[in-house]
Amino acid sequence: SSPVAHWQASSLLALLLLLEGGMFSASPPAGLERVFRHIELQQDAFVQTLKEWVAIESDSVQPTPRFRQELFRMMAVAADELRRLGASVDSVDMGSQQLPDGQSLPIPPIILAELGNDLKKPTVCFYGHLDVQPAAWGDGWLTDPYTLTEVDGKLYGRGATDNKGPVLAWINAVSTFQALEQDLPVNIKFILEGMEEAGSIALEELVQKEKDRFFSGVDYIVISDNLWVSRKRPAVTYGTRGNSYFTVEVKCRDQDFHSGTFGGILNEPMADLVALLGSLVDSSGRILIPGIYDHVASLTEEEKNMYKSIDLDLEEYRNSSQVKKFLFDTKEEILMHLWRFPSLSIHGIEGAFDEPGAKTVIPGRVTGKFSIRLVPHMNASVVEKQVTDHHLEDVFSKRNSSNQMAVSMVLGLPPWIANINDSQYLAAKRAIRTVFGTDPDMIRDGSTIPVARIFQEIIGKSVMMLPLGAVDDGEHSQNEKINRWNYIEGSKLFAAFFLEIAKLHE
Ligand SMILES: *[C@@H]1O[C@H](CO)[C@@H](O)[C@H](O)[C@H]1NC(C)=O
Ligand SMILES: *[C@@H]1O[C@H](CO)[C@@H](O)[C@H](O)[C@H]1NC(C)=O
Ligand SMILES: *[C@@H]1O[C@H](CO)[C@@H](O)[C@H](O)[C@H]1NC(C)=O
Ligand SMILES: *[C@@H]1O[C@H](CO)[C@@H](O)[C@H](O)[C@H]1NC(C)=O
Ligand SMILES: [Zn+2]
Repeated sequence: SSPVAHWQASSLLALLLLLEGGMFSASPPAGLERVFRHIELQQDAFVQTLKEWVAIESDSVQPTPRFRQELFRMMAVAADELRRLGASVDSVDMGSQQLPDGQSLPIPPIILAELGNDLKKPTVCFYGHLDVQPAAWGDGWLTDPYTLTEVDGKLYGRGATDNKGPVLAWINAVSTFQALEQDLPVNIKFILEGMEEAGSIALEELVQKEKDRFFSGVDYIVISDNLWVSRKRPAVTYGTRGNSYFTVEVKCRDQDFHSGTFGGILNEPMADLVALLGSLVDSSGRILIPGIYDHVASLTEEEKNMYKSIDLDLEEYRNSSQVKKFLFDTKEEILMHLWRFPSLSIHGIEGAFDEPGAKTVIPGRVTGKFSIRLVPHMNASVVEKQVTDHHLEDVFSKRNSSNQMAVSMVLGLPPWIANINDSQYLAAKRAIRTVFGTDPDMIRDGSTIPVARIFQEIIGKSVMMLPLGAVDDGEHSQNEKINRWNYIEGSKLFAAFFLEIAKLHE
């Protein structure tokens, strides 16, 4: 098209965007227009930096010396980038990790960085991680996972959305204020780790240790390590489910039996275990453990309304998950059962015969594994009692079995829920309206993200998850990507958030 036509089209678009933005909010806060323009002009440079970070194979899951070296290199590159912003950077030595095979591997340092110390400004602490899940070209990637490759505005590469892109978006926002010599409205602290995908070993201990030093003065904690539930509509995450994981062992003896010589004269451990596992949940998904729903928070009108407006395409969700029918038919019910009601899942049986063929074995000892996702205000130790002392003991004793049963809760991670009326949630909503011209989806996550609760419990300050990636980014899977649009608008979002939280903070 001719340059004139192009100019007309783009100014019409700009006008429309201006009108749309105007419907939601007053004019953007002073100074933001320059910031947004700078981010747009710099976008290729920002993508280039992401490409350099993605090229570092910082896989924390496969415990090999080469990947560990890459992790150390990644943390050093990030520390340099933060120093270039003028931050004071502390790379805290985390010692080493003993592997089950006796090998010892060094743990990458955790970066604690600080920028600004103005008592009149709020202090926002950003958590992110720079390690990634394993990825290999042979696993079904269409491009080399460690070479950031742009196709139709999608930036493919391992770690692009989880979590290198969001960490860089935060850095881009800060560097823009500096490039424009514009006063940064907040003091900023960074905590960046390199072992998140391996269970954040050592993180909690460091947070505890630094509670009264590095974290003193922190007003708000922001995590950007999850995804929207939509392709287009941004989200703010205010809760995650916890998890209590159980094993139940039924034992006759350590060795297996032959069913021809013992079948018919034994209480078989597997029959006991199947009965125990079968007593946990019914076919409508309802958990059958007495008392389990007693402490589940009741549903308020306010919360109910939030599910209605969430941008989730149920049909697409069903199609992409290849499930013919879910237990519930409406978007609201599905979201509530993923986010605010407990669920019980049966995961496996150790010691059972699970090979092909028709072996006539009677397992002598089997261990079933199941877990219950916990929601506010369930308490893991109460759940442990309900499952063990009340329910399973009861079901087992009614069978009159001569076997022994042993139940244990091997993991008890509480749920996390934030107060969505806190200033930083209001600031994030305003920033989203400014950048995206819409209200966010207020969402939770059905899985367990322990860092949020760790920060909230130890530091005692408001925690918010402000994701940048779209629902189809494929974190942890093949062909992980972040859209250029999400990365660049996300950088603007963080810049706008700095201004809004500075205004709202008292
Ligand atoms: C879901 O799959 C059905 C059947 O294949 C198809 O007709 C429909 O268009 C799909 N819907 C979406 C939103 O992808
Ligand atoms: C959970 O319940 C136990 C035992 O009843 C109690 O000691 C503990 O304080 C509770 N924890 C929370 C976080 O409420
Ligand atoms: C277990 O034993 C009790 C008392 O001996 C008997 O009443 C009950 O029917 C038995 N239960 C089963 C499942 O065999
Ligand atoms: C948030 O504030 C609104 C309006 O003041 C109030 O109606 C609502 O109950 C509050 N919600 C929470 C979770 O505190
Ligand atoms: Zn992550």
